[in-house]
Amino acid sequence: MGRAGAIKLAEEGATVYVTDLDGDAAAETAAAIEAAGGRAESRSVDVLDHDQLERLFADVEDAHGKLHVLWNHAGAPGPAGLEATEQAFDFAMDLNVKSAYFATALAEDLLAAGTARPRSSSPPRCPAWSARPAARSTRSPRAGSRP
Ligand SMILES: NC(=O)c1ccc[n+]([C@@H]2O[C@H](COP(=O)([O-])OP(=O)(O)OC[C@H]3O[C@@H](n4cnc5c(N)ncnc54)[C@H](O)[C@@H]3O)[C@@H](O)[C@H]2O)c1
Repeated sequence: MGRAGAIKLAEEGATVYVTDLDGDAAAETAAAIEAAGGRAESRSVDVLDHDQLERLFADVEDAHGKLHVLWNHAGAPGPAGLEATEQAFDFAMDLNVKSAYFATALAEDLLAAGTARPRSSSPPRCPAWSARPAARSTRSPRAGSRP
């Protein structure tokens, strides 16, 4: 599904950063996009590794200064039923839920730059964004901060 989405976004005109734990698979998707006339870069990224995510977003910032779409799609089916071990449960939550939360938090400023209202009086392109509570107010208090 991630590959299909990356190709679709490129067809819509986006420059796509294709990332995957499997860097070869990401490179193959980027090559397919470029072969079809689109723009793409690929990176091997483990979404469970904050340092790798930070490097990815630093690269995007250096090259483009903004990000319009962050598609948190890396994942794997979690355990079914009530027989899962705590380890399997934690891994599924880390990969499918926690990684998306922290990737979004790490990309927040880039996404804000990508959705900033232009200086003209044009309406914002993403009404949902402008209706969002003030930036960072939805984050949990940092350690040591008062509630
Ligand atoms: N395919 C469906 O119909 C469907 C439906 C609903 C939900 N989902 C969920 O959507 C997610 C993706 O589904 P899919 O069908 O595209 O799966 P997929 O296995 O085709 O793709 C998942 C990709 O995530 C990558 N990945 C795994 N761990 C990673 C990590 N730590 N860092 C970076 N990349 C990592 C894998 O290498 C793989 O390329 C899964 O969580 C799945 O449960 C899928």
